[in-house]
Amino acid sequence: MVTIVIGTQWGDEGKGKVIDYLAENHQIVARYQGGANAGHTVVVNGKRYIFHLIPSGILHPQAECILGNGVVIDPISLLSEIDLLKKENISVTGRLWISANSHLTLTSHKMLDQVEDQYRGKGKLGTTGRGIGTTYTDKTSRIGIRLGDFLDADTFREKLTINLQMKNYLFKEYYGKEIFQPEKIIEEYTPLRERLRSMVIDTAKYLNDAIAKGKNVLCEGAQGTFLDIDFGTYPYVTASNSTAGGACTGLGIGPTKIDRVIGVAKAYTTRVGEGPFPTELDGDLGESLRDLGSEYGATTGRPRRCGWFDSVLLRYAAMVNGLDALFITKLDVLDTLPVIKVAVAYQVGQERSLDFPNGYRALAEAQPIYEELPGWQSDISKVRKWSEFPDATRKYLDRIEELSGAPITMVSFGPGREQTIEK
Ligand code: GDP
Ligand code: IMO
Ligand code: MG
Repeated sequence: MVTIVIGTQWGDEGKGKVIDYLAENHQIVARYQGGANAGHTVVVNGKRYIFHLIPSGILHPQAECILGNGVVIDPISLLSEIDLLKKENISVTGRLWISANSHLTLTSHKMLDQVEDQYRGKGKLGTTGRGIGTTYTDKTSRIGIRLGDFLDADTFREKLTINLQMKNYLFKEYYGKEIFQPEKIIEEYTPLRERLRSMVIDTAKYLNDAIAKGKNVLCEGAQGTFLDIDFGTYPYVTASNSTAGGACTGLGIGPTKIDRVIGVAKAYTTRVGEGPFPTELDGDLGESLRDLGSEYGATTGRPRRCGWFDSVLLRYAAMVNGLDALFITKLDVLDTLPVIKVAVAYQVGQERSLDFPNGYRALAEAQPIYEELPGWQSDISKVRKWSEFPDATRKYLDRIEELSGAPITMVSFGPGREQTIEK
């Protein structure tokens, strides 16, 4: 069974928790896109882990983890995560595999990402500064460096020299910054080579062999549908395909091998970074949602923007990802609210639309049309069966399911593994 788990909103839906929960019954957990911009939180027995590159299944000893060809790898970030896990007596030896075709994020990519975003001025995207867009740019410009290239010292030097010749022109002439000396970068990264070598393989072959043997594979998406480079709120998006299709190209698995797609959605909406967000709540209510949900970025610590659940987004996400199921998270965050709103449609100019607007301007002008539902105003943290949810909680779930067009099969009402119910 091959299952894809994706974010249906603007990231941070709780994918880390969901992957950790589902990984118990899987032999392989594989990341297919993004890089260290992701921050996936897993809480086990009260201990919190935040994964940026390592797949969120790593805490399950039976699970092997894969970073596919579609992922961009910052070796400094990856090795520091490996070291942190080692301190907790969790070993990745013989169970973490990285694609030789994945692209390398270097110090120069991170620096250029930060400089570029500053230079955008008012049009800044608010990137994570992790060198994601600049690494994918090099990949599509055919001047990127693959992890396999890095393993051979001469190839690395050759590719890096060409890459920096082009990038240094930008740094010096356009941005007026210091240039990067290839020797400096070689010196910085050479000690990391041998630590990575034994993990670098043809992950597409490895995965397809595993699938042929009947192993269960969980494909872990990073970011979310509306940060997808094609379907997101462009240009306020990340640089990869975070939607379900990205799992095929980012891992080398044919579409015929995919059995199900699970979408993760918060019971409300958040966004970190710039860009349109129709149901955003300014003022006290937004702040109180941020406090109740501890909505601060797991990678950058930035406060997340908060707002109501938006079923227009969800319907679009259900469509472009072909969702089979919805996993609703953070339901407990709404426990104290007397009234909960859900966007059912948008008003765009004179038109009322059930569809996600086509084009940036229409989206920026879209006004959400809300439906109000009564809150349950009780603590749901002790609930162990679906039938134990208060009536108002079940009505809320039924309504967002109806509006979203995908069945809710699981609900999370706390960060811990055990705070999860299957319908
Ligand atoms: P991801 O990027 O999609 O993995 O999500 P993040 O880890 O960035 O953000 C989700 C945050 O919500 C983390 O701090 C989780 O520990 C927390 N979380 C996940 N599920 C729940 C839940 O059901 N209730 C509460 N209160 N917190 C949750
Ligand atoms: P997870 O996997 C939330 C946002 C950034 C910025 C935009 C582009 O934890 O859900 P980038 O550094 O990717 O070029 O930034 O995308 N962003 C995320 N927002 N969760 C994430 O990952 C994100 N990864 C990137 O804030 O707006
Ligand atoms: Mg996150």
